[in-house]
Amino acid sequence: MPGVVIIGTQWGDEGKGKIVDMLAADAAVVVRFQGGNNAGHTIVSDGETFKFHLIPSGILHPGRFCVIGNGVVVDPSVLIEEIEGLRRRRIDVSGLKVSANAHLIMPYHVMLDSAHEAKLGKLEIGTTKRGIGPCYADKSARLGIRVQDLLDAKILRKKIAAALEPKQQLLRPFARDPKLDLHAMTEEYLRYGHRLEPHIADTSRLCWDALDSGETVIFEGAQAALLDLDHGTYPFVTSSNPVAGAACVGAGVGPTDIDEVWGVCKAYTTRVGAGPFPTELSDQVGAHLRDGGHEFGTTTGRERRCGWLDLVALRYATRLNRLSALAITKLDVLSGLETLRVAVRYRGSEGAVFDEFPYHQSILHTATAEYEDLPGWEEDITGARSEADLPREAREYLEAISDSAGVPIRLIGVGPDRNQVIRVGAQARAAA
Ligand code: IMP
Repeated sequence: MPGVVIIGTQWGDEGKGKIVDMLAADAAVVVRFQGGNNAGHTIVSDGETFKFHLIPSGILHPGRFCVIGNGVVVDPSVLIEEIEGLRRRRIDVSGLKVSANAHLIMPYHVMLDSAHEAKLGKLEIGTTKRGIGPCYADKSARLGIRVQDLLDAKILRKKIAAALEPKQQLLRPFARDPKLDLHAMTEEYLRYGHRLEPHIADTSRLCWDALDSGETVIFEGAQAALLDLDHGTYPFVTSSNPVAGAACVGAGVGPTDIDEVWGVCKAYTTRVGAGPFPTELSDQVGAHLRDGGHEFGTTTGRERRCGWLDLVALRYATRLNRLSALAITKLDVLSGLETLRVAVRYRGSEGAVFDEFPYHQSILHTATAEYEDLPGWEEDITGARSEADLPREAREYLEAISDSAGVPIRLIGVGPDRNQVIRVGAQARAAA
């Protein structure tokens, strides 16, 4: 399985990092292909917790290349902080490579993100305010600053000056902020360049070399299908493409390099930020999911909105990504609920039935979910290590998910630790 893409099937926070970390044990390269430090991955290894925003989840496996691909937007101060944090914990970071073509998040991007949200008022997106949208906007407008620019003082200064100019009007209220001084900003970013230079590389070539010699490359998605700029719940989306198709563009490989696409799906649904969420729960069950699943953002600490599993949305994500396997995470959080509900269709405000995810925003915003009820289980399943260890009701719940999506489940997460995972089918046979 040389080229494997791992993506989120919901609105993010499905636990992709843990799945990537597991699969990275057999890979030569792990490459992130979109997003930035709006993402947050938590990995628990031997009781120790690691949180990453930019660095690919494979970094805990020595000897792997961990690549920040050209499709990622990089805040260099955050990246340097993560590198130093790992060094302090004696984790080898020599395999970390950053694409010379990746775009840089600049101080004005972060300010613009907050300013845009403030302007929208009640209509705000609920962004992570990390400057992601404005950075991708500059990239498209060809006003972006790239990682390679950090290595040339003259070019860097020119590009920052050009990018700042059209923003002068918008940024005038911040004009006294030293962060927006051309000279100070150029000096600051040159210092980042010195620190990052050993990691800057032609990462597309690195992926090619690994794939060409038959080694496994994992393409690590951030955010998720329903936050996709083109296919998600626009405008309540992120500014990149988290779907599997974007892995090629964001890492610099061809479509025939992809052999498998794994979708990571939480056993229930969460969402941070604004936007439609047909299975949202604002009752005690929602609180059970939030407390049991520790549903607070890794990046912003915001409380996540929680709800039942949405099979209409999962089937949509399956189609958009042509999933070949599913990894179901946080199944343990459902223990103790007498009845479990899964959304099987939506009903529009005028009574029409939607078996497919509606393409029109007005329908989605007012649709209500219709459910099938399944029996829950009482048992604590955090110690289960094979499917046979699970209660019958849990196995039936998983079967209902797999049947609805038409995709086999290969991994099941039953707790936060690295080893709290059940391997299924081919995965289990490979591990035996
Ligand atoms: P942005 O990516 O910061 O521009 O935020 C746009 C939307 O995507 C907001 O609703 C965020 O809450 C959401 N978002 C961005 N990154 C993540 C993530 O890693 N997990 C969950 N939601 C995210």
